[in-house]
Amino acid sequence: MAYRRSGQGAPLLLVHGFPLDSSSWDELTPLLERDFDIIAPDLRGFGQSSTVKTPYTITDMADDLAALLDHLGIEKTAIAGHSMGGYVALAFAKKYPERVTGLALISSQTRSDTPEGRLGRFKTAEEVMEKGVSVLEPMSFKLTSDRRVQNFARALVARQNSAGVIGALRAMAERDDNLSVLTEADYPIVLIHGVADLMIPIDRAREIKQAVEVAYLVELPGAGHMPMLELSRETAGILKFLKS
Ligand code: MLT
Repeated sequence: MAYRRSGQGAPLLLVHGFPLDSSSWDELTPLLERDFDIIAPDLRGFGQSSTVKTPYTITDMADDLAALLDHLGIEKTAIAGHSMGGYVALAFAKKYPERVTGLALISSQTRSDTPEGRLGRFKTAEEVMEKGVSVLEPMSFKLTSDRRVQNFARALVARQNSAGVIGALRAMAERDDNLSVLTEADYPIVLIHGVADLMIPIDRAREIKQAVEVAYLVELPGAGHMPMLELSRETAGILKFLKS
């Protein structure tokens, strides 16, 4: 498992979304290095991490994070996940609640897929198998309306490999509904969501806030699905709330 590490302070695990890698945090990490010991892994199948050919789950991806923390000698950490990274963060908090000092969901949700959504994932996985990751290229327009971020994301998606993308699509399709992880949490919860998010609508964050009153929800009017790149300063400022 490849990872980037920088900064000083309390540990903060940054978990990237789909189909991206740890470079999605490139603009955010310099803004947090005075506050946190930042660990930004490439999830299995993405970036520089190994690809696993046999099927796996979001919980397996969370286990990878636990193994990485063990390797680094870190017992407890704050964890922030972007979109799919939020699903992995929730699975981590479900299995290892005693290791979590705070949790942030950036453009994510606690819901599992609808039956239609699940079928859509399998269809996309088949298309990627046939034609490669280029079938995901139109996704960059849905991620953000910011041209600079679109270009960055398109290049990032193009660098990923088909097997990793397919593995993650299948894992996301099978994930649990994890709202109960947050209703039962005893650590700070932060929700950061772009009002103009076309991938995961802002209502998903609002419904978490309704169920988990203590959660700190920040709605970003100028952002789509990529606040850490669209509004990195604001996103960094909000994540400082996880400082323990
Ligand atoms: C992501 O950005 O990680 C994905 O859009 C999440 C998803 O497809 O549910």
